[in-house]
Amino acid sequence: MTGIKERLLPLVEKDLEKIEAALEENLTPHVELVKEIAGHLMFAGGKRLRPLLIVLSARICGYEDNFVTKFSTIFEYLHTATLLHDDVIDGAVMRRGKPVANAVFGAPVTILTGDYLLARALRIAAESDSIPIIKVVSGMTEDISEGEIIQLIKKGDVSFTEDEYMNVIRRKTGVLIRGACKTGAILAKASTEQEDALTQYGDNLGLVFQIADDILDYTANTGELGKTVGADLREGKLTLPVIHALRESSPQDRNRMETIIANPDFTKDEFEILLRLLSTYGGIEYARRIATGYVQAAKRALEIFEPSETRDILAMMADYALSRRS
Ligand code: IPE
Ligand code: IPE
Ligand code: MG
Ligand code: MG
Repeated sequence: MTGIKERLLPLVEKDLEKIEAALEENLTPHVELVKEIAGHLMFAGGKRLRPLLIVLSARICGYEDNFVTKFSTIFEYLHTATLLHDDVIDGAVMRRGKPVANAVFGAPVTILTGDYLLARALRIAAESDSIPIIKVVSGMTEDISEGEIIQLIKKGDVSFTEDEYMNVIRRKTGVLIRGACKTGAILAKASTEQEDALTQYGDNLGLVFQIADDILDYTANTGELGKTVGADLREGKLTLPVIHALRESSPQDRNRMETIIANPDFTKDEFEILLRLLSTYGGIEYARRIATGYVQAAKRALEIFEPSETRDILAMMADYALSRRS
C-alpha cells in the first residue's frame, strides 16, 4: 500500500488547486482578526479530503461545474470550525504542525471564529437554494455537536463500549464525510441509487478515517502527524485500540491500564507500558481489522458505477484513509 498518496496526488492536483482558490475567495469576514485566526489553521496544510469528496462524488455522477467547487468550501469551513472548537475542548497543543489557534489567540476568540466559519458554511449551503442540501448540512452540524458532547461526557470512563465509540465517531467525523459525498450526488441530480451508493461510501469512509486517526494517535510520530501523539490517552479519550485491549486483558493488566488512563500526567515510561499492553492484547491490530472491513464496504458501494478514473480515485481514497501516515 506504500506510495498511495504519491499516486493519488497527481490525479487530484487540479481539483485541489481550485479548492484552495475557492477557500480563499469565499472567506471574506469583515473583521480582520477572524480572517487571521481562520487563516492560521485553514492555510496550514490540511488534506482537503472533504471538499475533494464532494467534487469527485459529483463527477462520478456526471456533473462538472464551478458550482461544485464553491459548495466544496462548505465542508472545509465546517471541518475547520470543528477543529478550532475541538482543540479548545481537547486542550490540544499542536495541529498541522503549528501551535493550535487557541494557544496563539486565546480560547474565546478562537471559539467565535469557529462559530463564524460554521455560519459561513450554512450561508453558502443556503445559496444553493436546495432544501435537501441545506438539510444535509444543518443536520451534520447537529450530529457533530452531539458526537463531541457524548465524547466529552464519556472521557475517562473505562466502561465505554465499542458500540458507544462507533456512535461517537459516526457523529463527530462520519457525518461530515458522508455529507460531502451525498451533497455531491444531490448537486449532480443523481439517481436515488447513485446518491445512496455515495452516501454508503461516505459513511464507511468516515468510520475508517476516524479509526485511522485514533490508531495514528498511538503509532505515528508527532513531526509527521502534525499533532501530538498520545494526546487521546492524555485527554482520557478511549478509542478502539484501548477499548479492545481493556476488554481482552487479564484483571491485573486491566488494572494497570486503568491506572494509566486515570492519570493525565502519565510518564513516558507509563505510555510505553500502555503501548506494550495494546500490543499484547492486539488493540491496534483489532482496530485495523475493523477499519479494513469498512474500507471494503466503502469500495463495494462504488460498484454500481461504471469503471472510470474517478471511481478508481474514490477507491484509492478508501485505502488511503487507513494507510495514511498523517
Ligand atoms: C482531523 O481531520 C480530524 C478528524 C476528523 C480525525 P483531518 O485528518 O482531515 O485533518 P486535516 O484537515 O488533514 O488537517
Ligand atoms: C475528531 O476527533 C475531531 C472532530 C470531529 C472535530 P479528534 O479529537 O480525534 O481529532 P484530532 O485528533 O484532534 O484531529
Ligand atoms: Mg482533538
Ligand atoms: Mg485524534
